[in-house]
Amino acid sequence: MRHFIDLKDFDTGRLEAMLETAAQMKSGTDKSQPMAGKYVGMIFEKPSTRTRVSFEVGISQLGGTPVVLAASDLQLGRGESVADTARVLSRYLDAVMIRALRHETVTELAEYADIPVINGLTNLSHPCQIMADIQTILERLGSLKGIKICWLGDGNNVANSWIEAAALFGFELWLAGPEAYRPPAALLAWARAKGANITLTEDPVAAATDASAIVTDVWVSMGDEHGSRERDMQPFKATTKLMEKAQPDAIFLHCLPAIRGQEVEAEVIDGPQSAVFDEAENRLHAQKAIMAHIISENF
Ligand code: CP
Ligand code: NVA
Repeated sequence: MRHFIDLKDFDTGRLEAMLETAAQMKSGTDKSQPMAGKYVGMIFEKPSTRTRVSFEVGISQLGGTPVVLAASDLQLGRGESVADTARVLSRYLDAVMIRALRHETVTELAEYADIPVINGLTNLSHPCQIMADIQTILERLGSLKGIKICWLGDGNNVANSWIEAAALFGFELWLAGPEAYRPPAALLAWARAKGANITLTEDPVAAATDASAIVTDVWVSMGDEHGSRERDMQPFKATTKLMEKAQPDAIFLHCLPAIRGQEVEAEVIDGPQSAVFDEAENRLHAQKAIMAHIISENF
């Protein structure tokens, strides 16, 4: 069974093919409906706006029927095992997307399911987001080859998927954030062994200088509410001053939701270099392409 759990489970050519499909779906040249007659579950253990709506609309546009399941409404929320949930859902559904508190829930669901599982964010990664982000960069800048991408702030789930993307797509990635919030060493080692050009720094100016994209995320991710992130991340705010260090045509990306005045100045996210709403729109197109490819590989 072919799942979509992490970017690193795929080779670059396969992800590029998905991005090509995403562009064709966005332009309307690909109107195929590979999910016709299929039912796709959407399990949410955490809140969501973009993932919730873009998957539901995307499944419908591909001809399928979404079945939205809040984890608290499922027996999963009362202690039914992930394995039994996977076995049962496989008898009704043709695929399942899950946003989970723990990454292991997604891998366990995939282990016991006879249907493809798509990761809609965990504590460790957010691969659908980075596919949409790359689609946005390709639209705005034409290519990922040789460009420098600057990540500011927390070494979180979104940063982890950027690290995987750097290993697969060959762009230069600088991550500027406090040493205590660095991404997992094992993931960095994997990426570097694949030849990724990744620099970790506590100097946001060095990271932003000549970058083609400045990317950030909330300082306090879902589940990270206890701690001193809001204080510790202060030097890594996306400011107009930092944007001035980047390439003149650099774009600003943020997966959203954003807190203006905290991780990003309003002038940046609402300014002319911001691509955050194209980025949000591209969740729809990128995920439709992911589902189309995953479905065609499995059925
Ligand atoms: N970017 C993102 O995944 O947004 P939601 O939490 O609203 O789904
Ligand atoms: N890092 C954020 C992303 C939200 C889409 C979180 O996990 O809350």
